[in-house]
Amino acid sequence: MSTTATPAKPIASASDANQKAVESSMLSPRFYTTDFAAMDRLDVSSVRTEWDAMMREYEGDNNHDHFQRDEKFAEEVAELMPKLSPEMRQEFLDFLISSLTSEFSGCILYNEIRKNIENPDIKQLMTYMARDESRHAGFINQSLKDFGLGIDMGDLKRTKAYTFFKPKYIYYATYLSEKIGYARYITIFRQLEKHPEKRFHPIFRWFELWCNDEFRHGESFALIMRANPHLLRGLNKLWIRFFILAVYATMYVRDHTRPMLHHAMGLDSDEYDYTVFRITTEISRQVFPIALDTDHPDFRAGLEKLFAISQANELAKARGGVVGKLTQAVCAVRAALTFGRLYLMPVQSSELPQTVRMVPAW
Ligand SMILES: [Fe+2]
Ligand SMILES: [Fe+2]
Repeated sequence: MSTTATPAKPIASASDANQKAVESSMLSPRFYTTDFAAMDRLDVSSVRTEWDAMMREYEGDNNHDHFQRDEKFAEEVAELMPKLSPEMRQEFLDFLISSLTSEFSGCILYNEIRKNIENPDIKQLMTYMARDESRHAGFINQSLKDFGLGIDMGDLKRTKAYTFFKPKYIYYATYLSEKIGYARYITIFRQLEKHPEKRFHPIFRWFELWCNDEFRHGESFALIMRANPHLLRGLNKLWIRFFILAVYATMYVRDHTRPMLHHAMGLDSDEYDYTVFRITTEISRQVFPIALDTDHPDFRAGLEKLFAISQANELAKARGGVVGKLTQAVCAVRAALTFGRLYLMPVQSSELPQTVRMVPAW
């Protein structure tokens, strides 16, 4: 990668951290709201056996005591954090804040759906998923508090902008973000399992069991979509294609703006991202009839270009003035064209398997 990342505004105080969580940009995780009445009408009876088995897993709650720190946690924090360079510390903080925002985004959405519907199947599912996401967000927040940078989640809930998504967009986007969350956490966990000397913070020891929650959340949306097969046919395939590309491209650009984090783990951002894409694509064949060819050289070149445009845009933003504004407008057009070209690349089609459920085997 020839382009280097632009330094973002440093996170130096709790107010900076909270500001970072609340900010809405192309790359920052968003909060969502949806059409609750439509969700209330969801019918999962055609996947009843698999659904009930999944509900029993949620009820069993095998991670109920996982999100508690052990006695070594504080020692490791005290030993390892002073060793981080200031730049690396910034990237790690950015990672913690965006991960917390994204976990909390799930928590709020699932909770709002739960409160606004009567449908017993969906209500029960949302209760379990909100429970998990609230634990995840709270656990990350403890690590931010070690830095004196805890996020006020009540305030974040009140002040961050909400994006309205039709239910079907929620299913596509949330399914992907849960499965990509699984793939991201397990890839980091496996890498640090092989190279424990590169585990620069104890939170990564929690990722293995943690990502099983995300995997199961993804399974829930897979069952909802398979129970409503019109969501996976006809013109909806174009939406699926759009959401896969949008989610992959956002992740790629965001990860490449913080390359040090992956270097510290002994990964590079390309290697990490393409591993995550491969895992996510493999899993998503349980529900999506199409997949992107993320190993195609043109696809990779397109993502590199999107990253370069995003860097140019950041520089223009920092420059300000008329020239800065014009450059930003040019960047927006170039990004849209590049995204469009990626969107039009041929996709791989596949038959949906008989059995929907998968096990987290990566
Ligand atoms: Fe989560
Ligand atoms: Fe999740």
